[in-house]
Parts: sequence; C-alpha cells; structure tokens
Amino acid sequence: MDNLLLIKSPISAELESFKQLFDSSLSGSNFLLNEVIAHIRQKNGKMMRPVLLLLMAKLYGQVCSETLHAAASLELLHTASLVHDDVVDESTERRGQLSVNAIYNNKVAVLVGDYLLATSLVQVSRTHNYAIIDLVSQLGQSLSEGELLQLSNVSDLQFSEEVYFDVICKKTAALFAACTKAGVLSIGADDEQAEFARQFGEYIGLCFQIKDDIFDYFDSKRIGKPTGNDMLEGKLTLPVLYALNVTRDEVAKGIAVKVKNGVATTGEITQLIEFAKQQGGIEYAVQAMLGYKEKALSLLVALPDSEVKAALIAYLDYVVDRDK
Ligand code: IPE
Ligand code: IPE
Ligand code: MG
Ligand code: MG
Repeated sequence: MDNLLLIKSPISAELESFKQLFDSSLSGSNFLLNEVIAHIRQKNGKMMRPVLLLLMAKLYGQVCSETLHAAASLELLHTASLVHDDVVDESTERRGQLSVNAIYNNKVAVLVGDYLLATSLVQVSRTHNYAIIDLVSQLGQSLSEGELLQLSNVSDLQFSEEVYFDVICKKTAALFAACTKAGVLSIGADDEQAEFARQFGEYIGLCFQIKDDIFDYFDSKRIGKPTGNDMLEGKLTLPVLYALNVTRDEVAKGIAVKVKNGVATTGEITQLIEFAKQQGGIEYAVQAMLGYKEKALSLLVALPDSEVKAALIAYLDYVVDRDK
C-alpha cells in the first residue's frame, strides 16, 4: 500500500470530520477577509499536523471533539504562521499558488494571519481542556521566538549548528511536539504518555525541517513554493553550515558573510550552494535527519503492533522520503 494510504487509513473518517470543522471555523464577516480565506482554502496543505494529532489520539483512545478542536487549532496556527512567514521571507508562492502577500500585499497578509491566529485560539478554547489550552498558548510564544532567533541570527557570523538546531526546535519541532502531545492529552493520557508523545513529535519535527531545508538546495516544481529562497533571505541551513565548518574555506566563508548581510549576488549564492553540495553538506544533513528518524522509531519499539503504529512508522518514512 502507498505510504499516504497507510498513514490515513486508521483515521479516514476522523480526518473528514476534522476538515469539516476546519472549514466551518473560518467564516468572517468582512468581504476582504472572506476573499483571502477563499484563496487560502483553494489549496490544502499536506495536513501533516492534524493527521499526526489524530493518529496519536487513536494510539491510546478514540478521537473525540476535544481532539478535533485541538487539531483545528493547530492547523490554523500552522496556516497563520505560513501566511506571516511568507511576508518575513518575502516569498511569492505557497502551496503551488501565489502567496497572500504576493496576491494582495503585506498589510493584508499580516492582518489575515492575525485572524487565523485568533481563530486558532477560539478553537483551542473549545477543547475545554486546560492542559491543551496551555500547550497551544506556549507554542505561540515558541514559534515567534524561533522566527525571531532566526532573524537575529542573520547578523551572527558564527555559522553555528547549535543555533540552527535551536531555531528549528522552536519554529518547527515545537509545533509537531504540540500536535502529538495534544493528541494524547485529548483522550486523557497520563504524564508518561504525554511526555512520550511530546518527544516523538519533536523528533519528527526536526526531521521535517531538515528535509524542508534540503529542498531549498534543489530546483523542483513539485514543492509548490520557491526554492533557493533561504540564502536570499540570509538563512544558512544545515548543509552549508556543515560545509563551512568542516572546510574553513575562506572564499566560501566570505560569500557566507555576504549572504548573512543580504548583499550576496545570485551568482555567489549559486556558488555557495554548489560548495555545500561538493563538501557533502547534503549527505551530512540527510544523516542528521535519519538520526532523528531512528530516535523516533526507537520510541515506538515498546508499543504493541497495531494499525496505528504501522501508520506512525509510515508517517516517519513519508517525512524523510517525501518530494514536497
Ligand atoms: C511548511 O510546512 C513549513 C515548514 C515547517 C517547513 P508544510 O510543508 O507542512 O506545509 P503545508 O501545510 O503542507 O503547505
Ligand atoms: C518554516 O520555515 C517555519 C515556519 C514556522 C513557517 P521556512 O521558511 O523554511 O518554511 P517555508 O520553506 O517557507 O515553508
Ligand atoms: Mg519561509
Ligand atoms: Mg523552507
């Protein structure tokens, strides 16, 4: 069976209920707002986060209304963060269509992103579960801190892998960890199960962002968003950080400093990308990603075999093998 089918089969009915709730949560009274929401809704994302949340709930119990509201809240928070991220990254394409900032402008994208964020809070309050409300509130802080750390790191010339991992932990892994934890909290899991879920989600999120960062080194129409954008925005990710640290090549370092200062030419960026590839940066990042995948898999070993466990293993395969 295809990986995606394997992943979704234990939760197919629940995923339909999630989609209905997600759609019905979004109906504003403003004409412009509704127009932008219609644009966003035109293309669904991969729904990686709600799928994972539902699977985690199903691992220990049955998906209930708390689960669905938590999933809607977290997918809304994710969507809000993408709308804002495209403003910050000056990116013009998202999910294979123009980004909100490109089709409208930055002001509209900031305001609609805020509306999505507020809607995420409305949804989480409907869980009536204080632990989940606390989780999502703290997550909002972590995501902002991650994006801010990434922005301030642009002027730091250390080429630090440690800071890179700190950023991706806060901006991406924290969201996956919140999904896995919210999933199990929604069915009344105990502290041990909640901590297991959080750790599992964190490893998945680290894999997910390393993979996303690797995409940026290659041309692909399938991804539905521009590649080569990270360096244009002054972001140095794992493959190039490794290459810089392992070679201490002064020419490459000079270009990397220009990238961070936002003054590198597109030719220099191409040169730095090639340098990262030649020095084995992609293989290094792939190994780092597979290391986290192994850690995630090892957490599953103790669980009894089930359809949901098989789906979680397939989910991990999908995160590392996906092409979009
Ligand atoms: C994009 O996430 C943001 C990152 C963490 C890299 P996805 O690739 O899951 O985005 P959609 O929701 O499928 O568009
Ligand atoms: C994604 O980082 C993190 C978010 C929280 C939005 P990226 O900037 O790499 O995401 P994409 O590549 O634009 O989806
Ligand atoms: Mg971006
Ligand atoms: Mg990216």
